[in-house]
Amino acid sequence: MASSFTVCRLHTIGRGSLVKCLQKVDTFLHRNIGTNVVAVQEEKNGFKSLYAVHAERQEQAERSVLISCHSRTNEKNFLKYIANYGDIQKYFFYESFGMYAVVEFANQESVASLLEGTAIPSISHESLVPFKSRLLSMRNLDSRDVLNQPSIKKGQAQTSIPINELIQRLSKEESIDQQITSLTEAYQLTEENCRLRFLVCSLLKDIAASFFPECTIMPFGSSVNGFGKLGCDLDMFLDLDGISGKNATMPKSGLFLEYQMKRANFERIVTQNILSVIGECVDQFGPGCVGVQKILNARCPLVRFTHQPSGFQCDLTANNRVAMKSTELLYLYGELDPRVRHLVFTVRCWARAHGITSSIPGAWISNFSLTIMVLFFLQRRSPPIIPTLDHLRDLAGPEDKSVIEDNDCTFVSDFSKIQLESNTETLEQLLCEFFEFYASFCFSKLSINIRKGKEQNKLPAVPLHIQNPFETTLNVSKNVNASQVDRFVALCQESSWLIQQNITAPSRGGTKGNATITPWGVSTLLLPSQVAGIKSRKRRKFEPTSERIKSLLESLKNTNNQPNQS
Ligand code: GTP
Ligand code: MG
Repeated sequence: MASSFTVCRLHTIGRGSLVKCLQKVDTFLHRNIGTNVVAVQEEKNGFKSLYAVHAERQEQAERSVLISCHSRTNEKNFLKYIANYGDIQKYFFYESFGMYAVVEFANQESVASLLEGTAIPSISHESLVPFKSRLLSMRNLDSRDVLNQPSIKKGQAQTSIPINELIQRLSKEESIDQQITSLTEAYQLTEENCRLRFLVCSLLKDIAASFFPECTIMPFGSSVNGFGKLGCDLDMFLDLDGISGKNATMPKSGLFLEYQMKRANFERIVTQNILSVIGECVDQFGPGCVGVQKILNARCPLVRFTHQPSGFQCDLTANNRVAMKSTELLYLYGELDPRVRHLVFTVRCWARAHGITSSIPGAWISNFSLTIMVLFFLQRRSPPIIPTLDHLRDLAGPEDKSVIEDNDCTFVSDFSKIQLESNTETLEQLLCEFFEFYASFCFSKLSINIRKGKEQNKLPAVPLHIQNPFETTLNVSKNVNASQVDRFVALCQESSWLIQQNITAPSRGGTKGNATITPWGVSTLLLPSQVAGIKSRKRRKFEPTSERIKSLLESLKNTNNQPNQS
């Protein structure tokens, strides 16, 4: 969080009021800036709150610039040039339709001085939109330099490895637990990718700040909840609460000034209008922002676009505090026990490989729903691996109280108050049990509920019911149809059987470096399934002698042909 202080003129309403007013400022500081204090305490306990992560990353992002480089740019010369403007704290190069550099200075003044020394492009046949941002291009007018110097060593890719490569990599591991850990490592967001996400939010904030100087734009969803895969979309939240004065209360007597503000009948209309204007600005003025779509009639209005320099598919929303809370909750669960993240990653990857989830909107199970299913499963273990949301609410202190649009979103933020039970199940056991659990889950009668940590009865007409953790009357999987549920169940049945048949690593044949790599364990779960086309609700007979599965296994073991998926 940017820590800027303002000198305010106080309306004199008596000494008592002044004291009260200062107390309010104190509360505000504790709640906002004070999150750093909480963060430090949490770090002492080995955890870092999401607020702390946000504060740190936002501050880093504001000291950073994004520079498009020529592929033959010389790294040493590049850094020497940039260092003229200030101390470089960190930098990295990455590739995304060209080579880019993220440069983080030690202080914000260096960014200002760099921008001061940056030229406006001189073009003759086109007109420029005179909007200056922190997205820059490095040019070199001396072509000899370009040709004679070594260019930047390969920049980092910002997308995950193709599934074929992942299958190969996992097949080389010694145990299923190692495979699952390796899968998480291969797919999770890197430190650099996280920094880039916050930088894109910060660049967007510069556009929105033309209208709302005190706004912030924060990432939410899988970019920050700990379950993001390289290449996942960037969900952003335009936070205007600091301006709309929701936290301020009116004095009871005496003079005071208030802003004159335009009014609208519904908050939704205000949100739509704001997003419409910001969306227009992003479209017309935002360097690198292309394919802007304003999807204002959705349940949660948003502006969708591609940020070309980072390659991120961006969704900008406003007034979406509940989603921020869900993000915080998922982050907390992921931090409580490392098995949570490992299992979520594996299940997400498995689901994607089989088309259970998709980046295209439709009747699919979303990653968010799938994550809740994993959390629910972990709550149902004996003893449970993670607590219920109701338990987290019961542990909350007054500082955690949060009510958003009449929804109780309160849960404990101090990790040290959470006592975990001593469940020692391995990742291998949990993965097998996950498939068994959902292979026999009575989706037609029961709802998944992480608030209670227990199945609840549901209406039979709804194919899949996963209670929204905070807006408890809503179903997060309302979009999912019966055939998708059938496919999910059929795949769980198949995967449950398949993993049990491939639980141990095969002995390696061949000489060193020339060994045949036979898919086994988690790798076999990522290979194309035979149940992809299942449409009917009829359950397949679940028996290991199934000819179909037998032949599938034979084909896995006898061939080294890799599947054609990416
Ligand atoms: P991927 O983008 O698929 O990697 O996962 P994600 O968790 O970011 O999901 P998505 O982009 O679809 O949504 C972003 C965030 O919005 C989620 O993490 C949730 O916090 C929230 N969200 C998504 N869908 C729902 C929903 O149906 N109900 C509620 N309350 N929140 C949702
Ligand atoms: Mg997302």
